[in-house]
Amino acid sequence: MKKHDKPWGGRFSEPTDREVEAFTSSLHCDRRLYRYDIEGSIAHARMLARQGIITPAEARKICAGLRAILAEIGAGEFVFSPDDEDIHMAVEKALIGRIGDAGGKLHTGRSRNDQIALDIRLYLREEIGQTLALVGALKAGFLALAKKELGAVLPGYTHLQKAQPVLLSHYLLAFWEMLDRDEGRLRDCLKRVNVMPLGSAALAGTGLPLDRRWVARLLGFKTLTANSMDAVSDRDFIAEFIFAASLVMMHLSRFCEDIVLWSTDEFGYVEIADAFTTGSSIMPQKKNPDVAELVRGKTGRVYGNLVALLTLLKGLPMTYNRDLQEDKEPLFDTVDTLQACLKILAAMIGRLSFNHERMEAGAGGGFSTATDVAEYLVMKGVPFREAHGIVGRIVAHCIKAKKPLTGLTLAEFRRFFRGFDKDVFGRLTVRQSVNVRKVVGGTAEQVVRERIAEIEGP
Ligand code: ARG
Repeated sequence: MKKHDKPWGGRFSEPTDREVEAFTSSLHCDRRLYRYDIEGSIAHARMLARQGIITPAEARKICAGLRAILAEIGAGEFVFSPDDEDIHMAVEKALIGRIGDAGGKLHTGRSRNDQIALDIRLYLREEIGQTLALVGALKAGFLALAKKELGAVLPGYTHLQKAQPVLLSHYLLAFWEMLDRDEGRLRDCLKRVNVMPLGSAALAGTGLPLDRRWVARLLGFKTLTANSMDAVSDRDFIAEFIFAASLVMMHLSRFCEDIVLWSTDEFGYVEIADAFTTGSSIMPQKKNPDVAELVRGKTGRVYGNLVALLTLLKGLPMTYNRDLQEDKEPLFDTVDTLQACLKILAAMIGRLSFNHERMEAGAGGGFSTATDVAEYLVMKGVPFREAHGIVGRIVAHCIKAKKPLTGLTLAEFRRFFRGFDKDVFGRLTVRQSVNVRKVVGGTAEQVVRERIAEIEGP
C-alpha cells in the first residue's frame, strides 16, 4: 500500500494528518473556480503540445478529459473528495483517474502558484464584467427616475439641517455621478486584472520552452506578467477590486440612509412599495425599509473584506505563501454582496413614490431661501459679509416673531436695510431659489436638463 496518495507525496513518509487535511483544504471555497481552472488547463495543454513538450495525442486526451470533468461538475455529478486540497488537485486527480498517465503530464511547467493566480484573474475578469453591467443598470435607473421626477423640489441638507432647496432630480443625478466614477474605477482595475501570469511556475519561471504569449492570446489576455516572483505573489488587483467595491457600497449605503430617513413619518418624502419592505412580528402597523438597511449593513462586510485582505498581504515574505489561500473568501463575498446590492437597488428605485407636497413644504421651511436674500443684497452692491449679517438678523427676528421670511412686509425688511425693494419677494420662493442656481453643476432646472442631455448623448 502507498504510504501517501498525494501528488506531492514522494518525499513524505507518513500520510497527512486528517485534521491537517481538513484545515488546509480550500476546496469548499475554490471549487467555485472550476470553470476557470479547467479553461486555463486546456490552454496550457494545447500550448504544451504546440511546443512539442507533450504529443498532440496526449493533449487531445487531456483536453477531452478536462471537458468531461467540466461537464460533470457543471451538472453537479462530480464527486469532490474531502481529502482533495483544492480545486486544482481535485481536477488533476480526476483527470488522471479518467485518462491515466497522460493526465500526469498536464502540470508540466506549471505550479499551483501560477495556476491559482490565473484562475482568480479569469474569474475576476468575468465578474467585473457582470458588475459593470449592474452598475450600468443602476445608473440608468437613477437617470430614468431623474427624468420622471424633473421639476419636483426637495430640501437640500448640510449637517442634516435644512440648507437650500434643490431639485429631486439633481439629488438623484448626484448618485449617477458617483456610480459613473465607480464604473471608471472598475474599468481601470480590470486593466490590471487582465494580465496573464501562467508560465511563472512556482516563482522563478521554467526552463521548459513554454509559449506564454500563445496561452495569453488563447485566453483573451492582452499582456503577460513581466516578473514571475511578482506574478505568484501579487494580489493587488484583488485589493483594488475590493476597494472599488467598497466605494460603490459606500455610495449605495448613503443613498439607502436617505431613503430610510425619508420614509419615516417625520420626513415623509418617500414611500417604498410594499413589495420592497417588510413588517414587524409584533407591531402590526409597521412597514420597515429593510432592503435599504441591509444594503447599509452589508457595506460593513465589504469594508471588512478589504481590511482582511490588506492585513493578509502586509507581512508576507516574497513570494507565494499559503496565507494567500485566504484571499478567496473575502473576494467571493465581495462579489456576491456587491452584485446582490446593485441588483436589489436597481429594482427598488423603480418602486419609490415621492411625496411632492411634503418635499415642497419641507423645501420652503427652515429659512432655506436666506442665502437668496443675501445674494439679492450682493447684487445691490452690499459686500457679502455685510449681507450675511443683515439676513442673519432678519432670520433671528423671524424666529422670534414666529414667521417665515415670506411672512415679512417690505417695511420689516427695510428696518434691517434700507435698500430692500419689492423685488425681494421674488427671491423668497423655493422655485426661484432653485432656478437661479444656473452655474455649471447647479440645481436650476435648465442646468439639470442640460446635464441629462449630456449624459444621454447625441
Ligand atoms: N489553494 C492554493 C491557494 O489558493 C493554491 C496554491 C497552493 N500552492 C501551494 N504551493 N500550496 O492559494
